[in-house]
Amino acid sequence: MRVRNRKIELKSPADIEAMRVVCQLAADTLCKVDGILRPGITTEEINAFVHEDTLAKGAVPAPLNYRGFPKSTCTSINEVVCHGIPGSRAVEPGDIINVDITHIFDGYYGDTSATFYIGEPNDEAKHVVEVCRRSLELGMAQVRDGARLGDIGAAIQEFVEGHGCSVVRDFVGHGIGRKFHMEPMVSHVGKFGNGPKLKTGMIFTIEPMINLGKADVEILDDGWTAVTTDRSLSAQFEHTIVVTDTGCEILTERNRPLLQSERYPDYFG
Ligand code: MF3
Ligand code: CO
Ligand code: CO
Repeated sequence: MRVRNRKIELKSPADIEAMRVVCQLAADTLCKVDGILRPGITTEEINAFVHEDTLAKGAVPAPLNYRGFPKSTCTSINEVVCHGIPGSRAVEPGDIINVDITHIFDGYYGDTSATFYIGEPNDEAKHVVEVCRRSLELGMAQVRDGARLGDIGAAIQEFVEGHGCSVVRDFVGHGIGRKFHMEPMVSHVGKFGNGPKLKTGMIFTIEPMINLGKADVEILDDGWTAVTTDRSLSAQFEHTIVVTDTGCEILTERNRPLLQSERYPDYFG
């Protein structure tokens, strides 16, 4: 019997239009976060900004109370891989910080994140962030109707490991729509040609977490904060995309550059 990916929803044109709207609201909040970051700002101040900006749009911050998460955004500094809980910690020059924004609007979820430089990064920080940023682009470049889900992880893994970094296995991208997390799970490692076929109208995130050292992570006692076991730096970028006949549409595409993130466009020449 032919195996179908019965569980991967195909979105209707109306669903896709609603996803465009919520994803653009989330992308706009992320752009505004770019404008408030400076040495000394606390992650709680970032959270308060995200919370207020989300409500001002008539949207709801999806992380708040999601499975008990206590805040409206995730702020992940340096060795924090993901799910950092905003609090009293202030960012310092040389830090890197991922801010992950998910809005709910009109019943739909839009999810996007970027890693930002605070002040001037050292060479290691720059490397892990730029490798991560490019790996997301390469993963998205695999997407089109008829490609395989495994092609995405394969492209990411090949590039990242070729540049001396490692891909986190413990967290994955995900289908998204009227729920935060749906089928499929989108691994950031894989083999070309493996996995279910992608079809026009599927919507999911790609959100590689890339470590400068080993891939292993552990969860702190707060039950959320994931850190690298070797405490090496970790970076992450995330987009929500829809599969099209010829490629993908980046629903969370930004309409302006992130000045605290997109600073080294020529890093790979
Ligand atoms: N935004 C995260 C993701 O990309 C999920 C955060 S769950 C939370 O899937 F509870 F920590 F907010
Ligand atoms: Co996500
Ligand atoms: Co996210």
